[in-house]
Amino acid sequence: QVVLTPTPRWPDLLVVHDPVNRLLFSSKLFAAHVAPPEGLDEGGWEAFGDDWRYYFECMLAPSARQVWWALGWWGTSPPSSSASLPVCMLLPMHGPGVSSALTQLLQEYRGWVDEQIKAAATSCAAVFYASAYGNTAALAQAISRGITRGGVAVETINLELASLGEVTEAIGRSQGFVLGDPTLGGHMPTQVSVAMGAILREPTAKTMPCGVFGSFGWSGEAVDEMEGRLRDSGFGFAFDSIRVKFKPTAKDLLLCEESGRALAQSIKKKLKVRELAAVPGGGPQLAMGRVVGSLSVLTAKDEDASSAMLASWISQASFDPPGVTVAVKKDRAIEKLLVVGGKFCVSTVAEGREKPIMKALTRPFSPGEDRLAGLETTPSPQLGVPVLSSANSFLECAVVTRMEAGDHYVVYAQVLDGKVLDENANTAVHHRKVGNHY
Ligand SMILES: Cc1cc2nc3c(=O)[nH]c(=O)nc-3n(C[C@H](O)[C@H](O)[C@H](O)COP(=O)(O)O)c2cc1C
Repeated sequence: QVVLTPTPRWPDLLVVHDPVNRLLFSSKLFAAHVAPPEGLDEGGWEAFGDDWRYYFECMLAPSARQVWWALGWWGTSPPSSSASLPVCMLLPMHGPGVSSALTQLLQEYRGWVDEQIKAAATSCAAVFYASAYGNTAALAQAISRGITRGGVAVETINLELASLGEVTEAIGRSQGFVLGDPTLGGHMPTQVSVAMGAILREPTAKTMPCGVFGSFGWSGEAVDEMEGRLRDSGFGFAFDSIRVKFKPTAKDLLLCEESGRALAQSIKKKLKVRELAAVPGGGPQLAMGRVVGSLSVLTAKDEDASSAMLASWISQASFDPPGVTVAVKKDRAIEKLLVVGGKFCVSTVAEGREKPIMKALTRPFSPGEDRLAGLETTPSPQLGVPVLSSANSFLECAVVTRMEAGDHYVVYAQVLDGKVLDENANTAVHHRKVGNHY
């Protein structure tokens, strides 16, 4: 059986079911960016869970409704056990064939899809783009992931395939939007110009936070044109316009994710969505406040992308090999660098030297801003990741695994190297009164 399961990004997505062998050739659904040499998902959820989730967030979260429909069509939701499923193996276009983690992956997909649809009911952003060679499309995906990570649902729409009606409908469902295109022949492509005209005519659009982005080769007029037209029409920008020369680097993609998060924050601010739960009067929250951690600065780097955050939820987790765990909030930009294989450093803050570090790292940052500006650092010996010069020790670490823990990821990392920098300084301890903030 061949079934068309179109999404806005892949209108020709075909899924093929072989009922005799209970195989589902699932195309982009259940895919991952990694392909193990063995072909199948040996190691199950632990080995591939993060990759499946990452792929879903980048590629399928913007089409959550279509994925929901596809899951229902195959009778794969809700799965009670793999024996009762109409499939015993998922064979996506890329990534491992799914056998051992089948039931869990289906269950997780259902959860992720529900999460997206629920988020869309309260807040949604539209990412419109055109891309001839895939560079602007890569930026669109990173911005979309940032929006999703920021707790706002996203619809990513390829303007080369969408009708004007679809553009205005998407704007009607959204509280913010982003427009992206490459510069071709000194201009923005016609489809983008036409779609932009339709957006400018929508009375509700003008009150929405927005942003523009695009890849270019040498002159890059398209982003200026989009920015100029929106600015002249009185639109407010949630982030600085993003201009990337040809193929985006890791740093460009991190900037896009941070910009997506900034848009999500603007939308939530406008809708007055509360970020933190109210402090309950006593009980477990107050008791949790008595759990203390040492004050540290976590710095991470991947190619030309880098980020930093203040961290006190860091703990030793293993003697042999030496290992630590770090809890990282899911909507934090640095999370992108703390995936399996990611490298980072922990600089422990010396007692009495906390103030300038706290001041530098607790203020709000705009997308792409250097979080370590004003703090003296040196590159770590093995990884070349910045280490605070005022730290009393540092560790160089590599992420081995990470698990979902409510609104945080718990990252387990092996310590590759480390050094005490100041024998005489104690490590600062972070004391809190209540356990619903850091
Ligand atoms: C036919 C053609 C015309 C182009 N014209 C321009 C131009 O006028 N100015 C510019 O900055 N880049 C120009 N470029 C470079 C593209 O903007 C650049 O390759 C960009 O990365 C394409 O993004 P995309 O992969 O999203 O399509 C041109 C490329 C092609 C193939």
